[in-house]
Amino acid sequence: MFDRIAKNYDAANRAISMGMDKGWRRKTIKELCPFRGGRYLDIGTGTGDLVFEILDQSANVLVDGIDPAEQMLEIARSKAAKRGVGDAVSFLTADALDLPMGSETFDGIVSGFCFRNIERRQKALEEMLRVLKPGGKLVILEATYPSNPLVRLGYRLYTPWVPVIGKILGGGAAYKYLMDSIENFPKPEVVMDMFTEAGFVEVHCSPLTFGSVSIFSGRKQAAV
Ligand SMILES: C[S@@+](CC[C@H](N)C(=O)[O-])C[C@H]1O[C@@H](n2cnc3c(N)ncnc32)[C@H](O)[C@@H]1O
Repeated sequence: MFDRIAKNYDAANRAISMGMDKGWRRKTIKELCPFRGGRYLDIGTGTGDLVFEILDQSANVLVDGIDPAEQMLEIARSKAAKRGVGDAVSFLTADALDLPMGSETFDGIVSGFCFRNIERRQKALEEMLRVLKPGGKLVILEATYPSNPLVRLGYRLYTPWVPVIGKILGGGAAYKYLMDSIENFPKPEVVMDMFTEAGFVEVHCSPLTFGSVSIFSGRKQAAV
């Protein structure tokens, strides 16, 4: 599905989020707090925007982006080439449930709008914990269903238009699925419990834009 919408994915993202996705990504990477010399992983990297945001916010970092959708990765690679950052990034075909990296490799992991597409989310969190170094941080940006009834009403009025925008940009059915999956995604409290169950500490959730997206974070226990 993501291969089919890859070509217009960035344009659709901008249109559907009314340009707000850039700010959400900036805040997500601020929460990750990448440091000079660190090594980072973006899971479900798609066209790579979170990878580039890490590079924008920190010098001298190495960032891997993984995704099973090869067409999305092709766009990420060409964006990296255009920016001249090919030495700092690697885009690899891989699945969140079976990361081809050794244990304790990364100082931080980020993932944007991918987690709700994964069926075995608990297993994915355990895999993320495995590849994080002790003390490393996981930050997940995800679309969430607003809890305020008034905001929900506005949301319900807006969401039928998303597949229409998607259709104009060549992926109506895919965008219908993406919107439906937000309603089916667990509440933020449940997601936080999943982090804790996987073994993360300092688990936190920050709602943005009236709770229509949330930034979830957790840390791998530091070595004693
Ligand atoms: C909505 S896109 C988000 C792309 C990008 N992270 C962003 O912020 O725009 C979701 C991405 O997650 C990827 N994805 C879906 N299931 C995955 C899995 N099991 N492991 C890794 N990536 C996955 C899809 O291929 C797709 O590129």
